[in-house]
Amino acid sequence: MSSTTAAVTAQTTFPLLDREWDLLPGVFAPTHCASTGFFTESIPFPVGGSFLEVGCGTGVTAVEAALRGCARVAATDISAAAVENTRLNTDRHAVSDRVEVYRGDVFDGLPPQGRFDVVFWNSPFVDPGIDERSAARPVEDDRRKHLRRAVFDPGYRAHERYLLQAGARLTAAGRLLLGFSDLGDHDALARLAADAGYRISVLRTSGDLVSGVDYQLLELLPR
Ligand SMILES: C[S@@+](CC[C@H](N)C(=O)[O-])C[C@H]1O[C@@H](n2cnc3c(N)ncnc32)[C@H](O)[C@@H]1O
Repeated sequence: MSSTTAAVTAQTTFPLLDREWDLLPGVFAPTHCASTGFFTESIPFPVGGSFLEVGCGTGVTAVEAALRGCARVAATDISAAAVENTRLNTDRHAVSDRVEVYRGDVFDGLPPQGRFDVVFWNSPFVDPGIDERSAARPVEDDRRKHLRRAVFDPGYRAHERYLLQAGARLTAAGRLLLGFSDLGDHDALARLAADAGYRISVLRTSGDLVSGVDYQLLELLPR
């Protein structure tokens, strides 16, 4: 069975980039927007090198990295369902031998020593602001909580950690990439990047690929 745009309430599959993929409930669905396909087609994967995907979701980008020639791939996500989903897809595409999957907040779940030639996150690029009332909300259903996290990063706190901690995850000539969009707050991102010692360069934009949203593959370059 394939999903299109309907809410995902049971395990299903979807087609993307000429392959079939598993999708679990509560995981960011690449069928609902074109960012996953656009970024995966745009990333300069280090053939023969190492690639780290933060926020792997279904694992499409991490699996493609392995299939397109990366020798070592790591994928990590804060969501347990995303971790399980990525493992389903590494098995489905027979790359479990070279894709390691971890769970944690940004880089927290990774082994301490790992460094990578390219680090990438298709991030939750919308900052809804810090809502102090959210602490008082009843505990949300796990699926909703994780889907919210796939899209929103209140106060860009996770982006801030990504930018501050990425340096320790890069090889000497390693490249730091970020999947962002014109729905994000570029001024805030530029301030966080500057505080972490980076300036932003735009590698590729989707333009009118998807009406109303311009996805932007950014590279964070040392200042
Ligand atoms: C826009 S989705 C992208 C998912 C997948 N990479 C794709 O392209 O289909 C963002 C992903 O980041 C994950 N995420 C959000 N906050 C995170 C955090 N603090 N640490 C790790 N992953 C996080 C979400 O669970 C979600 O899977």
